[in-house]
Amino acid sequence: MRDNSRIIRPAGRPFNGEITVPGDKSISHRAVMFGAIAKGTTRIRNFLMGADCLSTIDCFRRLGVQIDVEAAPGQVTVHGRGLRGLKGQQEPAVSIVLDTGNSGTTTRLVSGILAGQDFPSLLSGDASLNTRPMKRIMEPLSQMGARIRSVNGNGCAPLAIEPGQLHGIHYTTKVASAQVKSAILLAGLYADSPTSVTEPALSRNHTELMLKGFGADVSSIINEDGTATASIRPCRELFAQDIVVPGDISSAAYFIAAALLVPGSSLLIKNVGINPTRAGFLSVCRDMGGDITLLNERQAGGEPSADLLVKHSSLHSVTIEGGLIPTLIDELPMAAVLAAFADGTTVIRDAAELKVKESDRIATVTANLRAMGCDVTPTDDGMIIRGGKSLHGAVLDSYLDHRIAMSFAVAGLAAGGETRIRNANCVDISFPGFYDYFN
Ligand code: S3P
Repeated sequence: MRDNSRIIRPAGRPFNGEITVPGDKSISHRAVMFGAIAKGTTRIRNFLMGADCLSTIDCFRRLGVQIDVEAAPGQVTVHGRGLRGLKGQQEPAVSIVLDTGNSGTTTRLVSGILAGQDFPSLLSGDASLNTRPMKRIMEPLSQMGARIRSVNGNGCAPLAIEPGQLHGIHYTTKVASAQVKSAILLAGLYADSPTSVTEPALSRNHTELMLKGFGADVSSIINEDGTATASIRPCRELFAQDIVVPGDISSAAYFIAAALLVPGSSLLIKNVGINPTRAGFLSVCRDMGGDITLLNERQAGGEPSADLLVKHSSLHSVTIEGGLIPTLIDELPMAAVLAAFADGTTVIRDAAELKVKESDRIATVTANLRAMGCDVTPTDDGMIIRGGKSLHGAVLDSYLDHRIAMSFAVAGLAAGGETRIRNANCVDISFPGFYDYFN
């Protein structure tokens, strides 16, 4: 087998200068999906050419949508087929088979769309994806009248979806999940009455913002008790849009952390999406004492962005909990690494969702931090990190989880000695060329 380990050595010098990070993964997925079911031609700029988003393109091409990709400038043109124009197999009883790769977003959101089609389909992903929980979408979609089942009866993909008449529901989710919320809202486009979803705290709202741009009747409110409700009315058609994808704050997080940790650094990260439902990592870094300035704040297509000036800072511990968690769910591994270098004891709680990501991130972060000499205790819904001791280089695994590979590459830059990350190429899922940025 090809060795795809990466050696990371301590950063010999500060991170200075300017960088841009690739386009936002969540927004890139949605732009293709909504473009595919809209009328007209959707043009997307700064699309993320990561493996997950390419899985989404591949699925919609199979569903009969012409999608032109110019990889170098990150330009994607989606020739929409309208809300009811997707195509199944020629033989109506035969399911169209879609490969969603490693992508939870593709699997869950596309399920919502497929539930409303008049042809059968089968969705399946890679070994990791096929162990991730899908009951969370099967339950509400079934309540809407969808005929969706887990082929192996274990609540995971492969998922078989057959045509069914959808009805609007009012659904309350147990976890704040944008993927679950989005699957329900997308199915709601095809229902015969309005649909709403209430979640315990507001998760990322890219679906609501972008669907509104495409002409859907969507609204959202934060309730008095802190829960959040998004509602959608059935829709006749969506209409194509031009979309400029901002840089991904989840990818920027690694460089924010590197600049905070490496002495002498002063790094300008240009054009980063700062939607408040995604920007929890910025507030946590600032609460830890991180020197981050937002410059040139602007809006494009309902999504705010800014340039971030990040300077080396000495960090102290924080508590990360509650409604903040969904706003930095993908950045918690990076936040845990920062906490290991920060003075004092950091507590992360209310984050049991970490267990059902691309790896069990409570277990994988704990294993790698311990290997580097950090005193960390995993809990049922987070971890306790006793920081402030210097960490040493170690042999680590990515556990085939892109965010674990990148978070610990940054840990390796700030630790003493050499770090080896096994299975390091999985960064291509969300950040192709990640390691080259450090050179
Ligand atoms: C995503 C939502 C999040 C996040 C994932 C992308 C999205 O998952 O972890 O990487 O694009 O909607 P959940 O909404 O399930 O927490």
